[in-house]
Parts: sequence; structure tokens; C-alpha cells
Amino acid sequence: ARIFVPADAAAIAVGADDVAGALAAAAARIGRAVEIVRTGSRGLFFLEPLVEVETAAGRVGFGPVAAGDVGSLVAEGLFEGAGARSLGLVKDIPFLKAQTRFTFSRCGVVDPASLEDYRAHGGGLGLAKAAAMAPAEIVAAVSASGLRGRGGAGFPTGIKWKTVLDAPGARKFVVANADEGDSGTFADRMLMEGDPFVIIEGMAIAGLATGATRGYLYIRSEYPHAIARMEAAVETARRAGWLGAAIAGTTRAFDVEIRVGAGAYVCGEETALIESIEGNRGEVRAKPPLPALKGLFGAPTVVNNLLSLAAVPFILAEGPEAYAAVGFGRSRGTMPVQIAGNVKRGGLFEVAFGITLGELVNGFGGGTATGRPVKAVQVGGPLGAYFPPALFDTPFDYEAFAARDGLIGHGGIVVFDDTVAMDAMARFAFEFCALESCGKCTPCRIGSTRGRETIDAIIAGRDVEKNAALVEELCDIMKFGSLCALGGFTPYPVMSALRHFPGDFGLPEKVAA
Ligand code: NAI
Ligand code: SF4
Repeated sequence: ARIFVPADAAAIAVGADDVAGALAAAAARIGRAVEIVRTGSRGLFFLEPLVEVETAAGRVGFGPVAAGDVGSLVAEGLFEGAGARSLGLVKDIPFLKAQTRFTFSRCGVVDPASLEDYRAHGGGLGLAKAAAMAPAEIVAAVSASGLRGRGGAGFPTGIKWKTVLDAPGARKFVVANADEGDSGTFADRMLMEGDPFVIIEGMAIAGLATGATRGYLYIRSEYPHAIARMEAAVETARRAGWLGAAIAGTTRAFDVEIRVGAGAYVCGEETALIESIEGNRGEVRAKPPLPALKGLFGAPTVVNNLLSLAAVPFILAEGPEAYAAVGFGRSRGTMPVQIAGNVKRGGLFEVAFGITLGELVNGFGGGTATGRPVKAVQVGGPLGAYFPPALFDTPFDYEAFAARDGLIGHGGIVVFDDTVAMDAMARFAFEFCALESCGKCTPCRIGSTRGRETIDAIIAGRDVEKNAALVEELCDIMKFGSLCALGGFTPYPVMSALRHFPGDFGLPEKVAA
């Protein structure tokens, strides 16, 4: 029998390695031949370690499994996919069944070390199609899919690629941004650990589309498992002729190099990331020039979030119409939403845009882990706005969130129950900005520290109304005067906390409009 146990960092953190060891020992004890395959995670973190057993009907799940449970689970029939504690077919678990998995279709399913397994599950079809297309045709397909930047800004990927394709330049680059720094996000990590070849395939397609011959994958240093997995995958892809002097089926060269960050949040900003790859201090550059015209080493450069690039193989393989067929308004396709914090069912939920925030948090997330009422959720990382349950009808969509002074960012949702103090969260936003500021511009460098001091005065009860007005004025200056999103978006968590939870700041509660 084949047994699948995730080697994903989140699964390992809750004991997956011990469970795999216990399964091997149990099989040896009863003289049973089992093959234990280490996969990525399906993203059902509330069930990790999730053990899957191959049966004639499909994969049957058990989880969360503790190493100490393995003996009794095996005695009950785990190796046959049977037993009272079986979760049934994994594909029918509601949290998974309700998803639309375009980008994450193979994650948690395939052996991430095996290019053959990747191919056996449809991998490589996009690259094969792209190899037979002209660069402008590939760009047109990506444009037709409606794909927008999954790092958070939602800029149309096709337009970015066209800018690079049309830019004059003897050499061009593709940069994949996996400096996944947002709180409560783990989609990049999961994909690198669970389906690394889809990232390489997406980068190679971007190379064919724009004329870039070299790709850099920038991974944050906090992701050692992902770094090791990607390094091995790049080696394998080179040996298989996917990367190197000529991409399989073409005469066009493309190779990928992995770069590891050094722990600065701001290096997720594209120009600071470029500085970092060039070996400089991670400081933001003024735009223009856009990286698409003058980026890495002064050359035209595609800088895409890892998830944007990973969506491309599906778009080429299945056709742009298949991707654009789902979604909401101008937000086409799917978003891998990540639900974390104080939530009953945390994990990754890839879904078409348009699902409401409430369905995600209370429906699939199941509300808080503590069982207390949800007070707020922060969407889009540490620079995202706090949404109260009164706004849970907001559809997951770039424009709908912007209309409510929020952002979807990289798709992270962090849930808080009614014990959270929102004045402390506003303080934290300023403190985070002060710690992570690159120091290049004044509104962010100085404003973050002054903001924290002013919130401290409010928390101490000094001139609360006057200081709240001061915070609002400061936020206005940071929003419009900062050079990049770090200083420019810090007002989102601060102002949403003030606006939706004035009582937490000692201000009069507003009457709902
Ligand atoms: P932006 O709106 O300035 O640019 C978006 C992208 O489009 C950039 O790559 C830019 O170079 C490109 N672009 C703009 N105009 C173009 C044109 N005419 N032709 C070609 N390319 C063009 O936004 P920015 O500052 O890059 O990103 C801000 C976002 O980052 C926020 O929405 C935030 O949600 C997100 N963010 C994500 C984090 C993460 O961990 N993924 C962390 C922090 C923020
Ligand atoms: Fe640097 Fe902050 Fe200015 Fe961004 S907003 S350039 S992080 S000082």
C-alpha cells in the first residue's frame, strides 16, 4: 500500500516526521510492505498531520494523527484505509471539496521530489504549449486570462509581461518574489514545498514570453524547507533539460538561480528585492523607472509574486478562458486564501474570487478556535485593514475590499476573538512599521515612531480625542507621502481599528450609519 505523509514545514511542526517513522515501524513489525511517500500539505492544517492511504476508491484520510496513535490505528485497519477514525475520502472533506484548485491542484497530492510524478499529474503541459507559441501569443494568453498580481497590488500580469517583452534590452530577467512576509500567509511556502516544479514551469514560461534568459527565485530565509526543496527541484529540472542552454522543445535559454533573503520585510517590495539580489542593502528605489523597463542590473525585469507565476502553467495548459471563467468583477480566476490566527479550521482555501469574508471565516474557518465571538479579522497582512463582522458580507475581490478601505493583499486572513484590544493592535502596526522601515523616506521613518508614541498617549488616556485626530492626520501624511507600501499602508490597520472600534481607544462609539 502507498501511504502519504506530508513533509510540509507546518505538518512537521505538529509531528509529521514522527508519524512517518511510527508508520514505517508499525509496518515492519507486522511484516507488511508499505511505501511511505512524503508529500506537501493539502493545506487542511487543522487535520495535520494528515495521513492518506491509497485505496481502490481513492485516498482515505486520517488526522490529526499523533505518533502514539499509530499502533492502534494500524490495528483498526489503517493500512487498508479502514477504521472508525477514518475521515473517509480526502477529496470529500468539505474544506477541500468546496475549493477550486487551479494553482494548488497537485499540492499535497504529488511527491514534490519527482518530476515524473509532476508530469503524471498534468505538469509540463503549459510549458510544452508555450514552447510552440510566439512570445506575443503567450503574453496575449496571460492577458486574456485576466490574471492580476497575487502579491497584493493586483496589477494585470499580461500588461507587465508586455511591457518587458516590448522593452529594448540585450538581456532581461524574471524575478519570482517568495519573500512571503505577511502575517498569516503561507501559500508561497506551501507551494514551494509541495509542488516546486509548477513554479519553475511558470518562470520558464515567463522567460519564453518576455525574452528573459535568467530567473531569480527570492525566498525568505525563514523558509529552510522551501529553500532545500526548490534547490533540489532546480537541479532536477536542469538535468531533465527543462532549464539551461535550451528549454525543452525550444532553442531558447533559461536558467533559474535561488537567492535567500536576510529577514527584512521590506525586501518583499520589488525594488528593495532587486537591490537585495544585486547585493546591496534592501532599500526601496523610487519609481519610475519601473522594474519592467529598468529593473535588475538595469535590465527590463518581470517581478512577479510566486503565486502569479504559478498560476500561469494552468492558464496555458487549460486555456485562458478556463481561468477567466471563474471570478468576480475584474478579479478573475482563483485566490489561494490563507486562514490563520484564532480560527477553528485554519489552512489554505483556494477559491474563485467573490466568496464573502463571512463564508471564509465563519463558514469554512468555523469561527474562532476559542469558541468566543469573532471581533475582527485582519485581511492582507500586517498592513491590511481590520474588518469587523458587520463587514463580513464583503466579497473577496480587489475592488470590493478597496471600496471598504481595505485590501486583500496576498490573501491572508488572521482571526481575532473578542478578547483582542484594538488600541494595542493599532500600536503594533506603528511599531511594526518602525521596526521594518528601510528609512529612505520621512513619513515612514519618523511617522511610525511618532504614531506609536501618540497611540501610547491614547492608551494612557491623555487628550484622547485630540491625539486621535493627530493620528488621523499623521496617517493621511503617511498614506500619501510614503515612497512604498510599508509606510503607505500602515494607516490601514491603524485607521480601521480606530474607525470600527472607537470604544477600545476610549472614544465614543459611533452610531452605525
Ligand atoms: P504598485 O501598484 O506600485 O505596483 C504593482 C506592480 O505593477 C509592480 O510590479 C509595478 O512595477 C507594476 N507596474 C505598475 N505600472 C506598470 C506599468 N505601466 N507597466 C508595467 N508594470 C507596471 O504596488 P507595489 O508597491 O508593487 O505593491 C503593493 C502591494 O504589495 C500592496 O497591495 C500590498 O498588498 C502588497 N504587499 C504584499 C506583501 C506580501 O508578503 N506578499 C507584503 C506587503 C505588501
Ligand atoms: Fe522605506 Fe518606509 Fe519609505 Fe518604504 S515607506 S521607502 S519602507 S522609509
